[in-house]
Amino acid sequence: MRKKLVAGNWKMHGSLQNNAALLERVKAGVVDLACEVAVCPPYPYLAQAQSLLAGSAVSWGAQSLSEHPAGAYTAEVSAAMLLDFGCRYVLVGHSERRTLFGETDEVVAAKFAAAQQASLIPVLCVGETLAEREAGLTASVVSRQLSAVLDVRGVAALASAVVAYEPVWAIGTGVTATPGQAQAVHAAIRRQVAALDASVANGLRILYGGSVKPQSAAELFGQADVDGGLIGGAALVADDFLAICRAAN
Ligand code: 13P
Repeated sequence: MRKKLVAGNWKMHGSLQNNAALLERVKAGVVDLACEVAVCPPYPYLAQAQSLLAGSAVSWGAQSLSEHPAGAYTAEVSAAMLLDFGCRYVLVGHSERRTLFGETDEVVAAKFAAAQQASLIPVLCVGETLAEREAGLTASVVSRQLSAVLDVRGVAALASAVVAYEPVWAIGTGVTATPGQAQAVHAAIRRQVAALDASVANGLRILYGGSVKPQSAAELFGQADVDGGLIGGAALVADDFLAICRAAN
């Protein structure tokens, strides 16, 4: 049985003061939950997450990382630096990174590799745009994004990774994928991995992300191949995030 994971992606939100209150509430609210809970604050707040969450049931991670180990890459942050701050997870290939910052499938695969080489758990984000969905390209886009990593890293690498299906049209729009839409893509992702290694596929956690709210979480997480969620806006509101975590329980 796959242990469910609910991860909050704070994106570029937060302040020392607001984060402290949010993290304390999340920490106190998840003590009895069987699912795993993680938060991904902006880089400057990882030290705060480390000091407030160390020893608690809440893990933390970063929203991206450099594909390079060190060097003249101004403003970049390496996997080793994330480890220094106790990160367990790191998002790679979020659609905002792909669209707004030009991250290609190749760059995403290199970041995935850099994360794993430092023993961080990459959360590989995949998902189609609205135009791609309407053109009937959902399966091929998601499969291509996954293949870019499988080709470079091999299927065994997915034994220590997480995949997040985040349809771009559902991110921050208030339009959540229906449970059926999410399940169909999640099942296709698992089938693609199973064709290479059934046991890795069976153990792989596939999260859904895109306008998950307390009201929609339980039905989404009840789908056979939905193993939790990657939460944006609702992760910034303690009550909402905790309600979503409870829905995964
Ligand atoms: P929203 O939950 O705000 O739609 O964001 C989803 C997301 O992008 C998480 O990574």
